[in-house]
Amino acid sequence: MASQPNRLYRLWGTVTDVAAGMLRIAGVSELAGVGNEIVIEKQGQKIHGEILSVSGDSVSALLYSASDIIRIGDVVHIEQEARIEPGDHWLGQIINYRGEVATQLPAGARLAAQGISRPLRAPALPAHLRRRLGPRLATGWMVADTLLPICRGQRLGLFAGSGVGKSTFLGSLAAGLDADRVVIALIGERSREVGEFVEVNLPQAVRHKTVIVSATASESPGAKKRAAYCAMATAEHFRDQGHSVLFLFDSITRFAEAHREVALLAGETPALNAFPPSTVRVIAELAERAGPGTGTKGDITGIFSVLVAGSDLEEPVADMIRGILDGHIILSRNIAERGRYPAIDVLKSVSRALPAAATDWENDMLRDYRRMVALYDEIAPMLRASLFEFGRDPDADRAIALYPALDAFVSTRNGNGIEAAFAAMAGILNAGALPDPAPEQTATRPPPRPRG
Ligand SMILES: Nc1ncnc2c1ncn2[C@@H]1O[C@H](COP(=O)(O)OP(=O)(O)OP(=O)(O)O)[C@@H](O)[C@H]1O
Ligand SMILES: [Mg+2]
Repeated sequence: MASQPNRLYRLWGTVTDVAAGMLRIAGVSELAGVGNEIVIEKQGQKIHGEILSVSGDSVSALLYSASDIIRIGDVVHIEQEARIEPGDHWLGQIINYRGEVATQLPAGARLAAQGISRPLRAPALPAHLRRRLGPRLATGWMVADTLLPICRGQRLGLFAGSGVGKSTFLGSLAAGLDADRVVIALIGERSREVGEFVEVNLPQAVRHKTVIVSATASESPGAKKRAAYCAMATAEHFRDQGHSVLFLFDSITRFAEAHREVALLAGETPALNAFPPSTVRVIAELAERAGPGTGTKGDITGIFSVLVAGSDLEEPVADMIRGILDGHIILSRNIAERGRYPAIDVLKSVSRALPAAATDWENDMLRDYRRMVALYDEIAPMLRASLFEFGRDPDADRAIALYPALDAFVSTRNGNGIEAAFAAMAGILNAGALPDPAPEQTATRPPPRPRG
């Protein structure tokens, strides 16, 4: 096992009150601080929690798991710095919020434990020492290799309503994106979905370089938050070893909700859409820990899924998260309903790596692509109503001719790298002469129905 930090003494107190999920502890008020972790070792179990508030004679703490075996007088240890021991032995495994291997994935190699102790909550690397965003990464998708590039160390949000394909798309990035290590935080998912994610979305070929940290919907809000920090500390561990790490977080909304529960218990007042004011800071602190590294360290490229209620991207939490990240990919329910996956709405999605990450030639092409799709969207209602007249506006005619290929481009996989994706895009945009308009797209209106 890895070494523990040296401790000269261990701080402990005793339980004075037990309520559902909460404790009061006496004897530690002068030394314990808000956010310190507590551990009760009883009947062969370790029950973890965290201190929410400190007063003159006692502290109150939130438990991460059930409190039914805890009794008044039980000894509570206070851990001033929560630590975990990530390492290569976690590759191919599902890890729980305590930082223990919960499930061995079928393709996971069982290596001897060789973790390195590190703090669960760490400050982000200093901004002034960090590298700039690295080069574009091949993603496995034409659309993300061109229109929505993901650079090394970039942090993107994946926004969508429920069931529009966030988890599936994240899984495909785990498989397709060019990274040495993949850390996946599954926070607040239904427990069935964790197994499904692995079976369906995570091909065997990437499991050997992947760590999944999971806290399901039924676990306590404290456990969900801790699992998120555990996943981030794991990504930092691999980054510090010089790896290029892909960090996938599904979903940051469940993390924000867990934080809301904890903060309200601690006495914070709700503001922003019932979220306490500290929500922005807590999410920003977590997201900031991803990003480019310093010196010889690697980078953490982060993609955070955001569930937007009623697909309303302007709602305060979605808007706030959008402001924190370096870009957003938006999945649209309308597009999913017509069966085009991933249901990325290209016009609403933005990668802030552009235009810097692309060449002039590429940027010209991306502008042309977006202009054609926007134009098509504008004239689509006229086409559907058979009101569009071909031959009047060459640009509009071109948009209509190109649209099926431009749309299909978004759902095309690409295993041949970024240059090949741009070559494919050029092929579509430079497609030669315009084909004859399809019969249903012509402006000829059907003859009026005879009245009778
Ligand atoms: N690439 C795809 N190809 C075909 N179907 C897909 C694809 N992506 C998503 N779907 C369909 O959409 C459903 C929901 O996908 P997914 O679970 O990824 O969505 P989600 O946004 O993560 O949902 P939730 O909000 O419940 O977490 C899938 O069960 C599948 O039917
Ligand atoms: Mg999902």
